[in-house]
Amino acid sequence: MNEIKIFDSETVLPDSGLSAKEQTLLGFEKRYERVRDQLRLLLSMDELGVWNKKHHGGRLALCALVAEQYPLAIFHGDVGTGKTAMAECIANRLIHESHTEDSVLFKLSNRVRGSGKVGEMGTLLAEAFHKVTQAAGRGRRAILVIDEADSLAAARSQNHSHHEDKVAVNTLIQGIDDLRRYGGRVVVILCTNRSSVVDPALLRRAAVTEEFKRPSGDERRQLFVMDLGALALTEPELRYLVDSTGEREGHPEWTYSDIRTRLYPAALALAFPNGPLRFDHLRTVAATMQASPVVENL
Ligand SMILES: Nc1ncnc2c1ncn2[C@@H]1O[C@H](COP(=O)(O)OP(=O)(O)OP(=O)(O)O)[C@@H](O)[C@H]1O
Ligand SMILES: [Mg+2]
Repeated sequence: MNEIKIFDSETVLPDSGLSAKEQTLLGFEKRYERVRDQLRLLLSMDELGVWNKKHHGGRLALCALVAEQYPLAIFHGDVGTGKTAMAECIANRLIHESHTEDSVLFKLSNRVRGSGKVGEMGTLLAEAFHKVTQAAGRGRRAILVIDEADSLAAARSQNHSHHEDKVAVNTLIQGIDDLRRYGGRVVVILCTNRSSVVDPALLRRAAVTEEFKRPSGDERRQLFVMDLGALALTEPELRYLVDSTGEREGHPEWTYSDIRTRLYPAALALAFPNGPLRFDHLRTVAATMQASPVVENL
């Protein structure tokens, strides 16, 4: 069992690669501020008591309720809308701003699902939580990203939910409950395409819930301006790209990853190595490519 790697990666934070990546994400600052303010509350429980005494004679009951929050953020939304990228970059910035040392970002592997042996998934998950909490110390933080969590976190009430899966969700809930003892030094970010299948007990525990959407026309425009600035596209050219990546003929608008990981490389491949990248290359690809289908969240 020890041979199974529980984590896809363990990254020491702050990480310069992630600091650079955050600059390339539209709307990062806004999202970060929202998430940070809420997580900062979790991190400052002692100060909250003092604040309550000072401003409300210690009688503001909701402070005790807030103190019971769980260090869990849920990022949900359609494919390719930035959940994973934001989770990593937000984790990085949180650590960067908290001026701690040796903090680690753990990314849970789907391999915790195990090979199907009875009890394996629950055991691997429990082991993962153990490792993450061990990594957190007095001045250190640990952040656990559970990516593509749909299968791990699926509601126990679902008809097709097997006993194994139920055990895993229970272990996940238990793990998150136990994290409250760490006073915010361990935070879990759970990413999913389908919040509707996530167990209600997990949804209820989330101190932070962030929805991710496909970029609007305005956001696509900003993305093209940021990524293609060197091409000095004309206004009609920009408009063409914005429009052709919008909703059309029964197809949804493009995702961030449709644009960045499909359109750009395909256009570049047309130009490279013989000449410069031109608007024509982008237009050719944009005209023939289609957006990723929407993940239904019913
Ligand atoms: N806010 C953003 N601004 C610019 N680019 C973005 C943004 N969000 C995501 N992207 C780009 O989209 C790509 C996919 O992002 P990411 O993998 O984080 O999506 P995801 O929501 O986790 O998708 P999936 O549901 O498929 O796991 C990345 O290459 C990233 O650069
Ligand atoms: Mg992802």
